[in-house]
Amino acid sequence: MQRLAGKIALITGAASGIGYATAERFIAEGAIVILADRATERLEAAYAKLCGGSGPHCAAFLDVILEEAWIRTITEIDATYGHLDVLVNNAGCGLPGSIADTPFQRWREGIAVNLDSVFLGTKYCLPLLARSRGGSIINISSIIGLVALANAGSYSAAKAGVRLFTKVTALECAAARNGVRANSVHPGQVQTPLFGDPAAARELLSRIPIGRIGQPGEIAEAVVFLGSDESSFMTGSEVIVDGGYTAQ
Ligand SMILES: NC(=O)c1ccc[n+]([C@@H]2O[C@H](COP(=O)([O-])OP(=O)(O)OC[C@H]3O[C@@H](n4cnc5c(N)ncnc54)[C@H](O)[C@@H]3O)[C@@H](O)[C@H]2O)c1
Repeated sequence: MQRLAGKIALITGAASGIGYATAERFIAEGAIVILADRATERLEAAYAKLCGGSGPHCAAFLDVILEEAWIRTITEIDATYGHLDVLVNNAGCGLPGSIADTPFQRWREGIAVNLDSVFLGTKYCLPLLARSRGGSIINISSIIGLVALANAGSYSAAKAGVRLFTKVTALECAAARNGVRANSVHPGQVQTPLFGDPAAARELLSRIPIGRIGQPGEIAEAVVFLGSDESSFMTGSEVIVDGGYTAQ
């Protein structure tokens, strides 16, 4: 029995890293996946590789910081599928820099991509998720939303914001009795383009108890669980997948 059989899932940032691995696992578990990203060429390549370039899955060009882009995407999903079962708010970016060295515009960009996007995705997908027999929102935060990282001010603030916004979403949905659950996932260091070259981060690696960085597929496994009915009593929870980093 496939764990996500027939579920319609929208995954943002699906052209790379954790989003791509999640789309791959969702498809393997029987979901119909809408891969969304703003990187057109990489999105098309991912769609061709994962879906053979044809239905029932689809690729959607979506810049998650633009409200009108969300409205257009949701309108298309409504017309094509009529509802949504899973939303994975995964798209994100790291913009390193000290407080002193960060121009206000760069701070705003970090908050927009990592936090505004989660608000917009939640707001515009909720009506479609409420039409599901049990909708699930999974927000990809970070361990840097739980413990601070110097020179990552907007990223830390945004990811911490995602953690509590997820709980607010869970409470509002529970009160509305709309059957939608919301949980956050907090990856540790994972080998993707966002993390960069692991060899350059040797000091950081020495602080991971399990002795290595994670692979995108290891985060995708947690997302599959939260998207499936196996997690039907979980809402407002935070799932940490970090090789023990925050256990210290
Ligand atoms: N890699 C890590 O170590 C790590 C650790 C903790 C949390 N995370 C989080 O996991 C998520 C995925 O990161 P990743 O490591 O796979 O990174 P990645 O760079 O491999 O992938 C991120 C994807 O998001 C897309 N994206 C960025 N801005 C976008 C926008 N405005 N609109 C649409 N798409 C956009 C990019 O095009 C890219 O395809 C992010 O939210 C990140 O903060 C990553």
